[in-house]
Order: sequence, then structure tokens, then C-alpha cells
Amino acid sequence: MIKIMLVSAFFILAACTRDYTPASSATGESIFKEACAECHQPKDPAVPQVVFSLNEKNANERYITHKVQGGSLMMPKFPKITGSKMRSLSTYVLNHSVTQ
Ligand code: HEC
Repeated sequence: MIKIMLVSAFFILAACTRDYTPASSATGESIFKEACAECHQPKDPAVPQVVFSLNEKNANERYITHKVQGGSLMMPKFPKITGSKMRSLSTYVLNHSVTQ
């Protein structure tokens, strides 16, 4: 019984992996719309250019890449967003963030 509960807890908590692969023509914006916008929407519809509010130390490409490729408890990971596509996506995210 305990074992079954632990196994189900693992599946509920473990971040899932998305197979999404950007097309060769994809831009930061198109990737964001296809892969991210279902969960990440502007906090205030009147200010559509602000989607994220990042801690100052996280407002960089390294952190965003880590988050996207590694996921978290709540966010799926996207291991197939890499290289120049990951860079364009990071730029898009940073251009749509405020820092705190
Ligand atoms: C299934 C929903 C979901 C999808 C799809 C998703 N995210 Fe997330 N994301 C979350 C949740 C929930 C959080 C907040 C919890 C956390 O930080 O893990 C988050 C956190 C983040 C953060 C950290 C924000 C901070 O304040 O530090 C970034 C950056 C981010 N997501 C970028 C993306 C990008 C880029 C994509 C598309 C490739 C994406 N997310 C797709 C659910 C999602």
C-alpha cells in the first residue's frame, strides 16, 4: 500500500518531458506561442509585454535555458529546445520580463 502511494506520488510530482521540437524557421516568439503560452500569459492584459517577473539574479539566458531544458516540479522540461533556438527563446523571455 505504502509502495503504491509512493509510486503515484512520484508520477504526480515528477516534471514531465515535452517532445516539442522547434521548426527550423521558428523564432523566439513562435516557440513561446507554441510551447509556453498555454501556461505563461501576461499577468495584466493591459500590459501584454510583461509575462514574467524574474528575480534579478535569474534574468539571464543561463537561468532560462536551465529552466526550459530541466523543468521543475511544476513545469515540464523541453530537452529539444537547444542552441540558437534556445537563445532566441531566452531573448524573447527576457524582452517580456520585468526584474525584481
Ligand atoms: C504546463 C505549464 C508550463 C509550460 C508549458 C511552461 N511552463 Fe514555465 N513555468 C510553469 C510554472 C508552473 C512555473 C512556476 C514554478 C516554477 O518556477 O517551477 C514556471 C516557471 C517558469 C520560469 C521561471 C520564472 C521565475 O520567476 O523564475 C521561466 C523562465 C519559464 N517558466 C519559462 C518557460 C518557457 C520559456 C516555456 C516554454 C518553452 C515554459 N516556461 C513552459 C509552467 C509551465
